[in-house]
Amino acid sequence: MKLLTNNIRQLLGSGHPMLDNVAKYYTQSEGKYVRPMLVLLMARATALCPRTSSINPTESTVNVPISPSSILSDTNPSAPPYSTSTAFSSTPDAEWPAEWSDVLPSQRRLAEITELIHTASLLHDDVIDRSVSRRGAASANLEFGNKMAVLAGDFLLGRASVALARLRDPEVTELLATVIANLVEGEFMQLKNTSKDESYPVWSEDALTYYLQKTYLKSASLISKSCRAAALLGRSAPEVVEASYSYGKNLGLAFQLVDDMLDYTVNAQELGKPAGADLELGLATAPLLFAWKDNSALGALIGRKFSKEGDVEAARQMVASSSGLEQTRALAQSYVDQAIDAISIFPESEAKQGLINMCKKVLERRK
Ligand code: FPP
Ligand code: MG
Ligand code: MG
Repeated sequence: MKLLTNNIRQLLGSGHPMLDNVAKYYTQSEGKYVRPMLVLLMARATALCPRTSSINPTESTVNVPISPSSILSDTNPSAPPYSTSTAFSSTPDAEWPAEWSDVLPSQRRLAEITELIHTASLLHDDVIDRSVSRRGAASANLEFGNKMAVLAGDFLLGRASVALARLRDPEVTELLATVIANLVEGEFMQLKNTSKDESYPVWSEDALTYYLQKTYLKSASLISKSCRAAALLGRSAPEVVEASYSYGKNLGLAFQLVDDMLDYTVNAQELGKPAGADLELGLATAPLLFAWKDNSALGALIGRKFSKEGDVEAARQMVASSSGLEQTRALAQSYVDQAIDAISIFPESEAKQGLINMCKKVLERRK
């Protein structure tokens, strides 16, 4: 992950010192690297599965290592100074651990792209949520202001797009571009949840369906489609590609369910970001939706987005005295079970065990 972070920092080089600084800001603190780790593990686990053709993937165009000079080489001295950027390359093979040598250069690059897209979404998310902290430090919007945080996020997406185009794989490009659109769609669904023009809510399964759909778009889409892309880059057989996607989708849903649970159960210091933020933002996530099912009194609070004085605290109490958190955990567990089941067709390997361990970590994590 250290090698990966170095590459990401190279990908984010800009001739403008301030943009360079803001774009790399969230790479200074240690992230969890869940998405790149999943891509690398999936690459290794699927390398042992059936392939679609006899083509040796290491010899195909998409897997040719990306040369430092072939990308972002806009070093024309007559060009405007701020359009220049640091050229970047894949990690030199000498540094890449021998036991991970079955991961193709294109799959390594994909791992970096997933982290770039994820970090861009955090930059934008912290503006939308008016968050003050991230990864144990001041959030980028607090440190540099909303305008620079939004533009830095856009810059990350631009550089992720260049790296993606360089993989020369239209299906993978389409998948990851769809992820970016899905992130916005998910965030929009969440905004609608907090808009003032909704009718007075009465519990129905539709609320949970809407929440899960939003959760897929804002969290599970990136994880599932990048797992799928890892298998595609490795030329895996169709059933292996589907299994990779299904694993990522179920793990992604579990990941966000746990995230929404931790917002209720862990303090800001341990989380490294604000705790209890969802209710403050007017958001009804899984623990509250389950609590509402058993306590119709929550409907009125949800209807007014916890805007009346004392609403947030009252809702917190009602969640605490309900089985909402347990039901959320149980649902996350059921998705994890489905994720593990999806990859049961993979042959036993250290990487497959790693994918299973990631499921356990997602359930046990406290930040
Ligand atoms: C974190 O959720 C946010 C996301 C998983 C996705 C955010 C997506 C956008 C802001 C859309 C625009 C993004 C791009 C890349 C175009 P959270 O607020 O529930 O989690 P947190 O507690 O970590 O803040
Ligand atoms: Mg947020
Ligand atoms: Mg948010």
